[in-house]
Amino acid sequence: MTSAFGKVILIGEHAVVHGHPALAAAIDRQVKVWFEGRPSGPISLSVPHWNVSVSVGEEHPLAEALGILAREVSAEHLSVSLHALAELPPAAGLGSSAATMVAVARALAAAAGRRVDPHRLEDIATAGERCFHGNPSGIDVALAARGGIGLFRRVTGLVPVAPAEPLELAVGLSGEPRRTGDMVARVANALSARPEETGLRLEELGAAAFAGAAALEDGNLGRLGQLMARAQEILGGLGLSTRGIDGMIDAALREGALAAKLTGAGGGGAVIALAPGKSDDIVAAWRALGKNAFRVRAGASPIHGET
Ligand code: MEV
Repeated sequence: MTSAFGKVILIGEHAVVHGHPALAAAIDRQVKVWFEGRPSGPISLSVPHWNVSVSVGEEHPLAEALGILAREVSAEHLSVSLHALAELPPAAGLGSSAATMVAVARALAAAAGRRVDPHRLEDIATAGERCFHGNPSGIDVALAARGGIGLFRRVTGLVPVAPAEPLELAVGLSGEPRRTGDMVARVANALSARPEETGLRLEELGAAAFAGAAALEDGNLGRLGQLMARAQEILGGLGLSTRGIDGMIDAALREGALAAKLTGAGGGGAVIALAPGKSDDIVAAWRALGKNAFRVRAGASPIHGET
């Protein structure tokens, strides 16, 4: 079995696409993949939790990505069925596609009896990610593959951050459908229409991500909360929040959260709340609104020997 982590971005989504840093953490929810050989037929992948089953050669983004991964790890000649157990909801901003790409690339490499260098494997998984949205920064794949908490930048990759204490978050799903690619395009359009203003906002997000990493290392969750709240203001100003997300943020703040914000691409998807000792209250408040919600341990790491 191979596996890879989901993730949350604490501060810096979208800014990271344009070269600024973002602060993100792997979460203790994974995509796990098994494979079995077959006498013949194309490589296939089924993800029962997402109601998806595809084979290489079909017209489906996941089938296309599967073909790319198979080719890049030299497994395209194999006849194998891959089965994925997804502990993450799809298309919610929690890195489900990146975790799938990493776990599947690892499984295909294992099926082909090849050892792929970890950096090369991340490049391969990122090539697969491009089937889902055109311009991934690589942050989701880096966290999916390596776990932990870190500051990610396109030029430097993931630099680990060591929080003073374990970090727990409440995660809730707004339930509004959206596509990451559309949200990334919205910011790109704002950047070309209003370069100076939008550029300054993205720069501020990147600076907040840096400051957030320092606050985490100092154990200053109050400061981290202030920075997350400001990040949400900026993301809202870029048109990435929704009424559903705003309602969930208000509910979390009423329950005593230090901060709550969208995480990932926005326009729907997931909301996180920083509420030390109160995550269960936030989860209950979101469930009372009819939302799927759960508590996560942020900064999950691979167990020794786990792939
Ligand atoms: C990734 O979860 C969220 C975005 O920053 C896109 C990316 O970094 O690839 C919006």
